Amino acid sequence: MTSFRPAPAWLADAVFYQIYPQSFADSNGDGIGDFDGIAERLDHLAWLGVNTVWLNPCFVSPFRDAGYDVSDYLAVAPRYGSLDDLAKLVDEAGRRGIRVLLDLVAGHTSDEHPWFKAAAHDPTDDRYIWAAEGRPDGFVPSPGTRPGAYLPNFFAFQPALNFGYARANPAEPWRLPVDAEGPRANRAALRTIMDHWLGLGLSGFRVDMAASLVKDDPDKTETAKVWAELRHWLDGAHPDAVLLSEWGEPEVSVPAGFHGDFFLQFGGPTDGLALRSLWSNGEGTVNESWDPLDCFFDRSGRGSPRPFLEAWEKASTALGASGFISLPTANHDFSRLNCGPRTPEQLPAAFAFQLTWPTLPAIYYGDEIGMRYLPGLPDQEGSVLGPRYNRAGSRTPMQWDEGPNAGFSTAAPDRLYLPVDPSPTRPTVAAQRADETSLLHLVRRLVSLRTHTPQLGSRGSVEVLHAGHPFVYLRGGRYLVVVNPQEREASCTHDGARSGVPLEADGVAVNGSTIAAEGFAYGVFDLGPDR
Ligand code: GLC
Ligand code: CA
Repeated sequence: MTSFRPAPAWLADAVFYQIYPQSFADSNGDGIGDFDGIAERLDHLAWLGVNTVWLNPCFVSPFRDAGYDVSDYLAVAPRYGSLDDLAKLVDEAGRRGIRVLLDLVAGHTSDEHPWFKAAAHDPTDDRYIWAAEGRPDGFVPSPGTRPGAYLPNFFAFQPALNFGYARANPAEPWRLPVDAEGPRANRAALRTIMDHWLGLGLSGFRVDMAASLVKDDPDKTETAKVWAELRHWLDGAHPDAVLLSEWGEPEVSVPAGFHGDFFLQFGGPTDGLALRSLWSNGEGTVNESWDPLDCFFDRSGRGSPRPFLEAWEKASTALGASGFISLPTANHDFSRLNCGPRTPEQLPAAFAFQLTWPTLPAIYYGDEIGMRYLPGLPDQEGSVLGPRYNRAGSRTPMQWDEGPNAGFSTAAPDRLYLPVDPSPTRPTVAAQRADETSLLHLVRRLVSLRTHTPQLGSRGSVEVLHAGHPFVYLRGGRYLVVVNPQEREASCTHDGARSGVPLEADGVAVNGSTIAAEGFAYGVFDLGPDR
């Protein structure tokens, strides 16, 4: 196994905050969020206590997949501002102790990228995967003078960059080896792109579809080699930068070279079951291929933390100290926490769990106030993937205030990127900032507790005392965490439990070895150092 330089020390303490730039904050009233808007809201993020922002793609793009169709990796999309505006944002974030990560779309470009436009007219160009004649299964007819068809990576307008095939097949002459000229040029291009942004003060990347590079690579050996090569380069050239993968299988992605990976709604042998078994209540973004399941954070109490714990155990044992697993509240492809039958009273327990688990927690913008997933929105820039898989519901404007545009400057509502939650009771930052009993204040206190208590962080130990209702675990041998996501009260006994100082609790009582939790209750207790 290749050995990498240990992750930069700052990563262990990261609390991520994912910003969808289109929808976060609009500084100039054109209805689309932008860099200056984010910069103006950095005080919110600093107040909340998050220290690492991940921005979805903000590069030049025709925006048919909301920016995941890049047509220039080295320039920012004018709708978000200028390169100077991004530099200013990164600088102002840095002054508040906040790092900024960009999104690296490694596996494909837009069909409007100059590389692709050139390839579409040049039969000798192998930067993309091109069948010289006909239209093999899954390929898209050539748009240029070059005959044949190309392989897309996601939507048809996202041609796969050619990183080669793991195996040859005489029946498929378009398969090139991983060391062919095009694949080598593409690997070099990734390095150039990373070097460019890291040189400007960015702290790393979330890598889109990181497992997709080398084709017909079932065990991902060849794809892993691409990342290992890049990680070795990064370790030398930018040792303080990090790579996080959209892969969903940390036991594969971290040995490949990533510093961390996300638990996702898909990926790995169970197709994302670990994350979905926590949050996915059958509404919001649903892939038709998913079997219905009872998630743990549900009022019915039919779910269990066990599928998550099994996946966690497997991945964290495989990783040891070599990398991290990030657990998101949601993301731009997956339902928000407040979705379907889940109601705001259920959210505190979810955050109490996420922010006291030995993960790198990732808060999706707006989840800290309990923004609602909005069902049934029209397709916007490629948001609809299937009849029940509409990503727009998770991408609506950040609800800053009570105004008609939720704080999106003076834009007329019909110019907003997506509509604002029309509910008269929609949560807003302004109202929750003024209310110390709000979810926002709770999330802030939990982030602070975690930040100031190493045992609650990503490196502290965890011992599960009760994997059911209530869910009970001990962090660092000292901090007892209890969450009861169901509506009914629940109790359990455990020798390791005893009453301690409640640091953050609502509805949980510990009497001797008995732990009693009301419906939707949560508690974090300090049992003291001499346990
Ligand atoms: C990733 C992104 C998603 C995008 C797709 C294609 O899954 O998260 O938003 O549509 O890749 O780039
Ligand atoms: Ca704007």
